[in-house]
Amino acid sequence: MNFTLSSKPISDTKADCLVVALPEKGDWPASTTQANEALGGLIKTLQKNGDATGKNATTLLVPLEGQPWARLLVVGTGTDKDRSPANYRKALIAMAGQIKDGPSKHVLIALGDTLVTGDDATSSEAARLNLIGRTLEEQFYRFSEFKSEKPSDRKLGKVTLAASSAGKALKDAFNLGLATGRGMNFTRDLGNTPPNVCHPTWLAEQAEKLAKDNDVIKTEVLDEKQMKKLGMHSLLSVSAGSAQPAKLIVMEYRGGKAKDKPYVLVGKGITFDTGGISLKPGEGMDEMKYDMGGAAAVFGAMKTIAETKPKINVVAVIAAAENMPSGTATRPGDIVTSMSGQTIEILNTDAEGRLVLCDALTYVKKFDPEVVVDMATLTGACIIALGSHATGLLSNNDDLANDLLAAGERAGDRAWRLPLWDEYQSQLDSNFADMQNIGGRPAGTITAACFLSRFTKDYRWAHLDIAGTAWNSGKAKGSTGRPVPMLVDYLMSHAGK
Ligand code: BES
Ligand code: MN
Ligand code: ZN
Repeated sequence: MNFTLSSKPISDTKADCLVVALPEKGDWPASTTQANEALGGLIKTLQKNGDATGKNATTLLVPLEGQPWARLLVVGTGTDKDRSPANYRKALIAMAGQIKDGPSKHVLIALGDTLVTGDDATSSEAARLNLIGRTLEEQFYRFSEFKSEKPSDRKLGKVTLAASSAGKALKDAFNLGLATGRGMNFTRDLGNTPPNVCHPTWLAEQAEKLAKDNDVIKTEVLDEKQMKKLGMHSLLSVSAGSAQPAKLIVMEYRGGKAKDKPYVLVGKGITFDTGGISLKPGEGMDEMKYDMGGAAAVFGAMKTIAETKPKINVVAVIAAAENMPSGTATRPGDIVTSMSGQTIEILNTDAEGRLVLCDALTYVKKFDPEVVVDMATLTGACIIALGSHATGLLSNNDDLANDLLAAGERAGDRAWRLPLWDEYQSQLDSNFADMQNIGGRPAGTITAACFLSRFTKDYRWAHLDIAGTAWNSGKAKGSTGRPVPMLVDYLMSHAGK
């Protein structure tokens, strides 16, 4: 798909389809007025006759003749007071749904001058163009790798986005949005890939491929022998029952100054979570292929970073393993020594995410991190607490937590903070080791983070529990690409100018 930004008057751009916004009430954006004039008052007529109501996220496609555009797509954008960024995004999604498989080869989109609640006319255009770019890439996503009948090629090949200027600031914003969408789609590809294909070695190969395609990324993969030497017995206890060896995948992007400490991202990469000997019930177990969603999001963020090359140093570490029951699997009751030296009594082999993460979190100390953000489909309890709208956020640093919350808010990829109070720590007391790996039913998301916090005392750290946000279940089953938008927004807001 070819995407361009244009500051020419819309009438000067020929296209197979022009997309304009129609508010339900009140003033029109300038581009809608211009289109209405060029079309001899057509949009006013459609509104007057009730063909186009302007209700948010409704669409009306009208064929045109003798115009620079072969069609007009009118997208309802609701009322000024209800036009939140989330509702604006709904309108964009409806728009993308109309154009992606339609007859138009070239679409001209004039939705960037629609004001959203909290916007001012000039400074927020960049944010809107960013969101348009991201939403287009997200909505154009298809995953047909494993279908023998492939969907037919799309007619749509070119999108022109109308903007007030085609200068660097707006171009960069649009391109960042597109790159964020592509990063999310990479995350989704990895997540959706079946677990017989997507195993730790395959994930490591994806990192090597990313490094091969992008000079700015370097990759290193540690195998089980190297991890054993480092003392990562907690991580290795998870892969012990699997025929697939664990991998610790490291990716480095150095776009900042040599002396700038890196922002470190850590991802849980359980390529399939059966629960191990503490076997999960069968129903819906296939969805545990998404238990590498944290790793997939780290990959997606790295792809966006590699494409946009911000002035920041980023290190990514993925703890990849498969959690299987077998004669060599870890038993409930086993005690292992983590890389940190702390001993862990494994009372439930299904609480494996924290077991791989704790060694990765110890390992990253060697990078002398500015901050460490880990992400993991860690607890079912997080779905009970927050559902699928917010990612759970727990942190040992208020500034870092607030930065991530704000980034999620801006990106429409929100998190909600839960407490990490000392009072919860005692739920991890073990009779036989330094700690046990489960804290009982109360506050399961918090006690999981408490476990991790015992390995992150030396740096500023935040944990994102994405159990509820990484994928959709049911008919729309599929990876969502979250929390890539939050991560990208966060990293960009800390990059040098
Ligand atoms: N990967 C799961 C968490 C999960 C479950 C995420 C369902 C999304 C949907 C994790 O490894 C796990 O099994 N957690 C246990 C922890 C418990 C044994 C303390 C859980 O949440 O039940
Ligand atoms: Mn588990
Ligand atoms: Zn898991």
